Amino acid sequence: MNAPTPPSSLTPVGPRINSHRLWEHVCAMARIGATAKGGVNRQALTAEDTQGKTLLLQWASRRGYQTSIDPIGNLFIRRPGRNPGLSPVLTGSHLDSQPTGGRFDGVYGVLAGFEVLETLDDHGMETERPIELVVWMNEEGSRFPPPTMGSAVAAGALPLADALAIKDVSGIDVESALKAQVAELPVLEKRPLGMSGFAYIEAHIEQGPILENQACDVGIVTGIQGLHAYEIQLLGAEAHAGTTPLRHRKDALVAATTLIGYLRAAIDDPEDILRFTVGRLEVYPGSPNTVPGRVTFNIDLRHPDPDSLLRAGETILRLCAGEIEGCPVSAKVLLRSTPITFDDRVVATVRKAASGRAMKFLDIVSGATHDAKYTAQHIPTGMIFVPCEKGISHNEAENAREVDVAAGAQVLCDAMLAIMSEPL
Ligand code: GLV
Ligand code: MN
Ligand code: MN
Repeated sequence: MNAPTPPSSLTPVGPRINSHRLWEHVCAMARIGATAKGGVNRQALTAEDTQGKTLLLQWASRRGYQTSIDPIGNLFIRRPGRNPGLSPVLTGSHLDSQPTGGRFDGVYGVLAGFEVLETLDDHGMETERPIELVVWMNEEGSRFPPPTMGSAVAAGALPLADALAIKDVSGIDVESALKAQVAELPVLEKRPLGMSGFAYIEAHIEQGPILENQACDVGIVTGIQGLHAYEIQLLGAEAHAGTTPLRHRKDALVAATTLIGYLRAAIDDPEDILRFTVGRLEVYPGSPNTVPGRVTFNIDLRHPDPDSLLRAGETILRLCAGEIEGCPVSAKVLLRSTPITFDDRVVATVRKAASGRAMKFLDIVSGATHDAKYTAQHIPTGMIFVPCEKGISHNEAENAREVDVAAGAQVLCDAMLAIMSEPL
């Protein structure tokens, strides 16, 4: 939906953000875990992730903000309000990246939120409510699946103990990686798990081509499509590659590729709305001259309609059972998050903020997943998207323009201030 052109008498509500500073911060974070191809590799709970969080905490400490951490490693940076008894207005996103990630996915929302806090300081503005910036732990889920782990645990959708026990491919679990990270960070106040606040607004790059194609300044996000994550395992038998006839093998990799073919065919969507991805496959023991004895792979499944998503999920579970080519198959559900519709009043506030700055905008449903889907279960939530070049994301070539980055942060600042005065 395109907004009507705002009347010229419409004046913006808030102070101007410092777009130069915001861009400098984006560039500084992009140097941490920088890859040769211009992207970043700052996966959750790695040394690079720790470096990124350390830098942000240094900036926060210069401003005197209060900092705390919860048991799953979500970080909170708080700018106090006049009335400490009131629940905070929240913003946030994530600093972790894909292994071949870009310079904007997640980190942009964190830095846009930080820019709001600093802008208020620059203008000597007190707010009634505290404002809190959250850095969610392990949004990407590339090293430790599933994605949005920190917000899922905070929302009570994933038990803490289950999350802490999840291992990466080298056998390191979240618990020990998190302990190592916390030991490296400055001392932080400990806070209990939980998800509460007056409102939550997250800024993010779109990660798709719609806003750029329609020459929009920002997107008003109305919801997030659903996501299921599954882990599938096939058990074969290791055998000698030179001596074992093909007919006598239980080759877990051959069985896995056959199964993936069946799955794709069984859930084929002629409308191409359903998203089915196998992005990680582990072959054991991973030796060129041993027939694979075990394969584990992950399925990422998404759809904006809850029933279609559930149906496809049931098909996956039905096919990933029994035996295939002599190899027993089992499936584990890692995550089942239903499509989310954001709070009407928060969405309207974000729309009004964009309109107040005479921006061109569009309502949009997010194809990517975000921690906002879990905040939405407990806190009135909305999101702001900014265009990214050719919609490229989860790719080192991911790019966004300084002017768009600034526009999104400005809308975030205006919307957060506006929402404070609303009786939600
Ligand atoms: C987020 O990283 C997603 O996978 O959508
Ligand atoms: Mn993201
Ligand atoms: Mn991502």
